[in-house]
Amino acid sequence: QTIYLEDYTPFGWRIAEVHLTFRLAPHATRVLSRIRFDPAPDAPEQDFFLHGEDLTLIRAAIDGAEITPALSPQGLRCAVPDGSFTFETEVEIAPAANTALEGLYMSNGMYCTQCEAEGFRKITYYPDRPDVMATFTVRIEGTEPVKLSNGNPGGSGNGYAEWHDPWPKPAYLFALVAGDLVNHPGSFTTMSGKEVALNIWVRPGDENKCAWGMESLIASMRWDEKVYGREYDLDVFNIVAVDDFNMGAMENKGLNVFNSSCVLASPETSTDANFERIEAIIAHEYFHNWTGNRITCRDWFQLCLKEGLTVYRDSQFTSDMRSPEVKRIGDVIDLRARQFPEDQGPLSHPVRPESFQEINNFYTATVYEKGAEVIGMLKRLVGDDAYAKALDLYFDRHDGQACTIEDWLAVFQDSTGRDLTQFKRWYSQPGTPHLSVTEDWQDGTFTLTFAQHTPGQQDAQPQVLPIAVGLLGPNGDEVAPTRVLEMTETRQSFAFDGLGARPVPSILRGFSAPVVLERATSASEKSFLLAHDTDAFNRWEANRDLARACLEAMVTEGTEPDDAWLGALEQVVRDDTLDPAFRALMLALPTQAEMAQHLHANGVTPDPDALYAASESLRNAMAARWSGWLGDLRAACTVDAPYDPGAGQSGKRALGGALLALLTRLDGGAAAQAQFDAADNMTLQLGALGCLVQAGTEHAALARFAEQWRGDRLVMDKWFALQVAATAPENAATRAEALTRHPDFDWKNPNRFRAVFGSLAMNHAGFHARDGRGYRLLADWLIRLDEKNPQTTARMCSVFQTWRRYDNARQALMKAELERLAAKPGLSRDVTEMVTRLLG
Ligand code: ARG
Ligand code: ZN
Repeated sequence: QTIYLEDYTPFGWRIAEVHLTFRLAPHATRVLSRIRFDPAPDAPEQDFFLHGEDLTLIRAAIDGAEITPALSPQGLRCAVPDGSFTFETEVEIAPAANTALEGLYMSNGMYCTQCEAEGFRKITYYPDRPDVMATFTVRIEGTEPVKLSNGNPGGSGNGYAEWHDPWPKPAYLFALVAGDLVNHPGSFTTMSGKEVALNIWVRPGDENKCAWGMESLIASMRWDEKVYGREYDLDVFNIVAVDDFNMGAMENKGLNVFNSSCVLASPETSTDANFERIEAIIAHEYFHNWTGNRITCRDWFQLCLKEGLTVYRDSQFTSDMRSPEVKRIGDVIDLRARQFPEDQGPLSHPVRPESFQEINNFYTATVYEKGAEVIGMLKRLVGDDAYAKALDLYFDRHDGQACTIEDWLAVFQDSTGRDLTQFKRWYSQPGTPHLSVTEDWQDGTFTLTFAQHTPGQQDAQPQVLPIAVGLLGPNGDEVAPTRVLEMTETRQSFAFDGLGARPVPSILRGFSAPVVLERATSASEKSFLLAHDTDAFNRWEANRDLARACLEAMVTEGTEPDDAWLGALEQVVRDDTLDPAFRALMLALPTQAEMAQHLHANGVTPDPDALYAASESLRNAMAARWSGWLGDLRAACTVDAPYDPGAGQSGKRALGGALLALLTRLDGGAAAQAQFDAADNMTLQLGALGCLVQAGTEHAALARFAEQWRGDRLVMDKWFALQVAATAPENAATRAEALTRHPDFDWKNPNRFRAVFGSLAMNHAGFHARDGRGYRLLADWLIRLDEKNPQTTARMCSVFQTWRRYDNARQALMKAELERLAAKPGLSRDVTEMVTRLLG
């Protein structure tokens, strides 16, 4: 059954207050609710319907009198009085049998919840929709030593704990956690002088992995005060780490629940990348307190209202904590790897979708990351000051409300006077616009003419594109600083006059709009930009273009690696005045998946085996050509100070790691083995292990790693993942299959499942093995997992989204696996929707 945005109607009642009592028991938890309903003045007439799924109703009453409501698999319906009334129910649920990890479930003996998007209806009967906001009072009864819910703590005593959340919230922000937990405490004094108690709650044994999360939380709280003027609003802020979790983390009011992989960190067990990701996710969930919780979404079509904005805010935070240039390049790599394939394939949908069957299938890179890009464009168009003013108005006007994209845009229209009618298309038109550009030079005037179109979208109207452009003179000096051109038409020209010589344009600086730039530029001009551009992003982009062109020529024409480009790249990599993190990014080649996308866009059918061979031979050529200095430069990247996960040290380790990967091609793994043996942090240890796997000399090191880390689930996830991701393609599926027989392969744990199968999908040529065994193995396991956990299964189905890019034989193999999935009796709604869209 499909739900449509245009069918929205408000709920017929308001809720003044919710009282919940939980009597915890693994197989028979009782949930008692008492809810005060008041008729909503302007809502259309409707039946009284409450969502409820997989609940055993014990008792229901209205104003104290027992009733017998009509029950369906979706919920409960009954006659109610005309005015206000109190509705009570008691239901029974079985958290220990809940493998879908939605609603109330158990992870390692701990009770926890995940209610977004529609999980609360698996806890009790309720109008489970984000526009119904209420204050909650919760009583938890059970023998567990720690019992947590949203808001501020109330009374507690022998076998019970009470919580009260004074801020009205939708049910998707409800949370409950109970178990044998220990806390890492901290505190924060807000800008108005209020003291907030902070806690990170973990299983005993994980206490020593909380310090970074706490530091990140405090930095986030300070940053949101300083940059957005947003203060925290409760006496306590709790974070809980849970091993079994479908997503990264969840912003429940005052009680954030995290996948343990997104909060626990120590230098010995976590990589630099893990530290950065944890910092960003802690910030993301914290920032939701204002963008998501205080101001929430009217309905799930508006998901980007909170997610796009919160991703945008966390990217600003990371830019401020680290390097803005490196963060921007990383975000664009990620956007192209995850959002572009979505936007250009069968799963394409607008940033604000207009229909869905299962909303969990729309927690996508388009809603999140393209949603954040749209906000970045809006800020670029109106300017920083106007953006700040608009945000103040947004918080002022909509605090406590459930809002829409229309509300969001109205704030900008009202505060800037700008008409955003055309800009709004970014929320409704799917697809990635392509932007082509031609140039003209006459009498000191340089003219750029742009044209836009969106492939695969027949009715696409022109988008508003902020195009940041700077001009470089023939000597490489900047003759015109960055200017944002505002393109609104299908075809549009912009002139720069008063120039002494024909300039070289640097177009789409900072990736100022999420488009595919099509520009016929000579290799020498790209090398010029690579050497001289003052915009770090475009410098990186020029290099990326050259790398893609080089690999493309190697694949399609069998040419040798491009000498001139490698010479120019060497200059940058060896330039000690540049940030090592930036140099490491320059050294990284486009992935084979990115190359497949690039070739497909150029009308070439990608051959995964040829792409693998080309990138191997390019890497070998780089290593051979640079053999004279790789070792010295790597030595210069050594960090001689106690481990610190900040940008400074991690940049050095990133460059050192990229160089080690090249060195391994020369020494067969000797340097990597030495690094592995001496490593005292996970970045160095895992980096070395990856090199050994690539070299095929990992046997002893893998065994030692497993021995050392046997008891650490998160590190063992890395052990599972690395073997599949880094192995030669011909071994990938075999290795993945062997690992599913490993005693520690706990396939019901989403992190472990993804460690093996997410990595298989990332091993491009391995997943796309000609005989189809990669596809078959994954489909076998998706069929199996769907019975336990539809949400994670559906999410993993998206690895098939590029299936139409490949040759007929591979297409047929992938299609057959998708059809086999589709034909499975009892397939979940989640996976049914995904497979239908993928095949459609
Ligand atoms: N709102 C969470 C976040 O972005 C994501 C949780 C989504 N969960 C889900 N089951 N769809 O921080
Ligand atoms: Zn979020």
